[in-house]
Amino acid sequence: MIQPAYKKVIVQAPASTSNLGPGFDILGLALDVMFDIVEVTWVDEKSISIEVEGVGSDIIPRNPQKNSAGRTALEFNKWLNKGGFKIKITKGIPPGSGLGSSGASAAATAVAINHLLGLGLDLRKLTEIAAQGEMASAGAPHADNVAPSIYGGWVLIGSYNPLEILAFPPPKGMEFALAIPKGMKKTTEKARSVLPKNVTLSMHISNLGAASIVVAGLLQSDPKLVGKGMLGDQIIEPARTPLYPGFMGAKEAGLSAGAFGVTLSGAGPTVIAVTDNRKKAIEIAKAMKEAFVAEGIECDTYTSHATTGAKVIRTVE
Ligand code: HSE
Repeated sequence: MIQPAYKKVIVQAPASTSNLGPGFDILGLALDVMFDIVEVTWVDEKSISIEVEGVGSDIIPRNPQKNSAGRTALEFNKWLNKGGFKIKITKGIPPGSGLGSSGASAAATAVAINHLLGLGLDLRKLTEIAAQGEMASAGAPHADNVAPSIYGGWVLIGSYNPLEILAFPPPKGMEFALAIPKGMKKTTEKARSVLPKNVTLSMHISNLGAASIVVAGLLQSDPKLVGKGMLGDQIIEPARTPLYPGFMGAKEAGLSAGAFGVTLSGAGPTVIAVTDNRKKAIEIAKAMKEAFVAEGIECDTYTSHATTGAKVIRTVE
């Protein structure tokens, strides 16, 4: 019978950018741009309750089945014969932005419950559990946001069945510029529904080559190579571009301002650019914003680095 090790555990998990262009569903990178904080409290009743505050909290479902943290917590039922969880999510990452918002909540919840129950599950297992939680918002158990939010650095999902994850430390010498356009109603489910069901062999070869360039760039901490690879996606970005007015203009502006590569972050609408220093990243972010504004679209901009994964920040005995 499980005896919780703590009454309450609080975990912070970082945002993430997935795909990096051609690495659809297999590449992800943790970013220090924003964080979600999840507080899990043990309760004696067999129930899961969700409270949400912070950015975009008004649109996040409280029903545990429909919430990525709630769905993640439900995955732990098999270890419980009594009791449940009260979950409080403080959103720092805007939902629906393409920055792994639901993935960070799921990741933080998995890490928190593992700690609270003293289960000692490894990071791969926690990723598997949190990816199931992601089903609540993405409609598919992709792991390229939850894995970087849990492991930190960058990850390569080598296989989904069985789940195989290769995790690497944060690449050095890379600075990211982000533009988050406002007022774009997107769901990951919709952004996945526009993708082609089949691709030609030549498209496959191009994307495989481009994704391999991204991987080589990350391994060598070479932002030019990462950017070059990011630009080589022939399948996913072209299919999603019509969903996001202003994206192409922002991409061109970012490249003209000196970015090595620009693409959609995850399923969009955030646009992410890579460069090698903060001053350039600020200029690139400004250029991308001006391009959006010229199309009548307001946006927020940020610069960011790769970072480490989910951390327990407080426990209550
Ligand atoms: N790889 C996923 C996608 C990420 O692009 O649909 C969604 O957050």
